[in-house]
Amino acid sequence: MDELIDVEICTGTTCFVMGAGHLLNLAEELPARLRPHVNICGSHCLGVCGDPRNGRPPFARVNRMLLSNVSAESLIEACDRILIGSKGDRCDAV
Ligand code: FES
Repeated sequence: MDELIDVEICTGTTCFVMGAGHLLNLAEELPARLRPHVNICGSHCLGVCGDPRNGRPPFARVNRMLLSNVSAESLIEACDRILIGSKGDRCDAV
């Protein structure tokens, strides 16, 4: 995969209070397989915390896709899905 997976973690007040602060250390928790492929940055309020239809904070975007109630585990899982998807899911004929 040539393009980086962008992980944008909301550090607005609501998300920060709900646990986004520790997610800024996500780079240290990334498995080695993901490190070369993931770009992590913090963001001002993503503007979605005021509408309960968007889910619960903390929020993040992974390649512009909004995720709610994120954790280090759910962000790693989202990155893994993108990375695996970029490689295709076909199996080689035997
Ligand atoms: S503080 Fe995170 S979306 Fe508003």
